[in-house]
Amino acid sequence: MESKTDVLLGLQWGDEGKGKIVDVLAPAYDIVARFQGGPNAGHTIEVGDKKFVLHTIPSGIFNKDTINVIGNGVLIDPFVFSKELDALASSGVDVSKNVLISRKAHLILPTHRLLDAVYEKAKGKEKIGSTLKGIGPAYTDKTARKGLRIGDIILSDFNHRYQKIRQQHIKIALLYNADLENITIEGIPFEAYEKTWLEKLKILQQFEKTDSEYFLNKALKKGKRILAEGAQGTMLDIDFGAYPFVTSSSTTSAGVCSGLGIPPAKVGKVFGIFKAYCTRVGSGPFPTELFDNTGEELRKKGHEFGATTGRPRRCGWLDLPALKYAIMLNGVTELKMMKADVLSGFPEVKVATGYKINGKLTERVPFNPDRTDIDVVYKTFEGWNDKLEEITVFDELPDPLKNYIYFIETETGIPIKLVSVGPNRKETIVR
Ligand code: GDP
Ligand code: IMO
Ligand code: MG
Repeated sequence: MESKTDVLLGLQWGDEGKGKIVDVLAPAYDIVARFQGGPNAGHTIEVGDKKFVLHTIPSGIFNKDTINVIGNGVLIDPFVFSKELDALASSGVDVSKNVLISRKAHLILPTHRLLDAVYEKAKGKEKIGSTLKGIGPAYTDKTARKGLRIGDIILSDFNHRYQKIRQQHIKIALLYNADLENITIEGIPFEAYEKTWLEKLKILQQFEKTDSEYFLNKALKKGKRILAEGAQGTMLDIDFGAYPFVTSSSTTSAGVCSGLGIPPAKVGKVFGIFKAYCTRVGSGPFPTELFDNTGEELRKKGHEFGATTGRPRRCGWLDLPALKYAIMLNGVTELKMMKADVLSGFPEVKVATGYKINGKLTERVPFNPDRTDIDVVYKTFEGWNDKLEEITVFDELPDPLKNYIYFIETETGIPIKLVSVGPNRKETIVR
């Protein structure tokens, strides 16, 4: 019987714990497929006492029977990709047989990273807080129809095309007065970085290439189970996030269709994943951000430091209007709540239920959520002190946490089917 593609994606500003849950769900799927983003993503998976951070490789990689597809909507940087391979290989994880790469996925060139840095610097105080992985410039070239794709690497004129676009990028960088002599990428002088990048490009050649649209649609016809893995989060979506403080791809379930070549009618369940509070890394509006000790405490207890850049994440209470917005945009059918354990020990826990703008209450995410006349309206919940990490059954969770969960379910109308109480696989409560 034909099957459908389930989707797991972030409902907030990224880092919700997508990697952990894809790894937990992987045994139930034949294929895990990334559909957008690139090495700006950092998906953490704890296997036993080992911790891995994946940037490009789908999080199904630790389940040996799962095929992992890097779809056409993804950006690949051979430099970052080869570092991921090395980290996996050093732990004995062989990716040579179960990773397929779309020929249509675009490459992040060294000069894309150069431009990312140049553009951010030029923005001054208005900087986006990009991860500087070249995402914006690479997607720009994709839509400008001059990017280079994985399938281009083997073409006889690849080098010519590479040099042509490289020259264009250098010209732009010079317009911005970039100091090309002294610019570094990952701490490496540009020219040396580029040399390594070109060497790592060869590694990509060893991987099986696919036309993911044919591969995945054929798999669905055969009844194979596919899970699409999102990167970033809904509030960073190019269209629906607080533009321009967004990433450059469609992070919502709409991105699954264009990023993998799967028609809308073949999308099945949509798992929306959210933290029991909120975090954001980089600049941009964050209405429930806490600037006090509570925010600091959340950061400390939740180890809220970026998996890709190490930057401290901004922390705040759960934003229900934003969560409802994300559920609406994605057509979420099931919720998964992460990091409930981090909220243990707070005397009270708050949830934003609305915004007051000019004295008028609204539940709509405003066009400009950074406006200074927004007052966030909160509902306060009794806290709990219990250690949750050892709990495996929903009924054993402390009552105040259950009340918190029931409230979110009632407000959103969507069931919370999974509660995560620690970073490890086994710290997962399925209802
Ligand atoms: P992703 O980008 O959505 O995959 O999330 P990240 O890996 O960037 O960030 C999530 C962080 O929270 C990682 O360090 C995870 O190991 C950790 N984590 C995931 N689930 C839980 C949880 O339920 N409790 C705690 N304390 N940490 C968690
Ligand atoms: P995962 O998949 C959190 C943020 C950056 C910046 C903005 C634009 O791990 O959840 P970009 O590099 O895309 O130009 O940055 O988006 N950002 C993320 N924040 N998690 C991510 O990915 C992110 N990817 C990008 O911090 O504010
Ligand atoms: Mg992350």
